[in-house]
Amino acid sequence: RPAGGNGPLGSAPVVYAHRGASAYAPENTLESIDLAMRLGFAWVENDVQRTKDGELVVVHDDSLARTTNVEQLFPDRKPWRVKDFTAAEIARLDAGSWFSEEYAGARVPTLKDYMNRVQRNRQRLLLEIKKPELYPGIERQTLDMLERLGWLDEAHVGRRLVVQSFSADSIRIVHSLRPDIVTAFLGTPKAADLPRYAAFTDRINPWHTTISADWVAAVHRLRGAHGKAMEVDTWIVDDAATARKVQGMGVDGIITNAPDVVRDAVGWF
Ligand code: G3P
Ligand code: CA
Repeated sequence: RPAGGNGPLGSAPVVYAHRGASAYAPENTLESIDLAMRLGFAWVENDVQRTKDGELVVVHDDSLARTTNVEQLFPDRKPWRVKDFTAAEIARLDAGSWFSEEYAGARVPTLKDYMNRVQRNRQRLLLEIKKPELYPGIERQTLDMLERLGWLDEAHVGRRLVVQSFSADSIRIVHSLRPDIVTAFLGTPKAADLPRYAAFTDRINPWHTTISADWVAAVHRLRGAHGKAMEVDTWIVDDAATARKVQGMGVDGIITNAPDVVRDAVGWF
């Protein structure tokens, strides 16, 4: 087996399609996860935020401007924040044309529609709670939605779901609400601080430029919230040389916009 630990939830080291196969299809759309599936990738990553009227939606930036035609449709609503638009308004946006004409008409998915598509595709989800400081209570709301959709039963928790955030507070809340959920902290804590994170999370997910083999080994020496050796998934690695480099450092997963490139470089799925 290639270098690396057991991967999330006991599988082999893993390649995650970041925002879907987002090098080839518009990020965080149903089209991008369908493409990841067709390329052969089970794990997809997304970003969850909340609309003005309380709907959970899948979109990365806190403004809709970069990845939709919101400026055209709502010219007087600058800076076009996700939290200032209703779900009905967001449903009208084109989230594909900015990427290419081929994807014109792609939508910003609700989390509900997104989860149903992940389920239909038999995929697995690395769900990021994005900017939780803007959305008080989003952790409980997200877990309630996952529960309603059947994603918190034994077949999903521990097998098909990881919840991550740049906010340690957010991950702590998820862990306290549902201790069975596998979580990941996005960032690169100093080795001396790692034990504090091990109390409420299982995985540490750093930007690839910030890590070394020694740091990865320090993470692996700790047992995480579920009593297993902690693991490392690093991002965003889109080229073969960097993929091989982080593989050599012993990471357990690579989060990438171009999953096929990483698979060909390191031999993981
Ligand atoms: O999954 C890691 C990665 O998504 C973190 O950065 O900004 O793309 O959400 P960002
Ligand atoms: Ca993300």
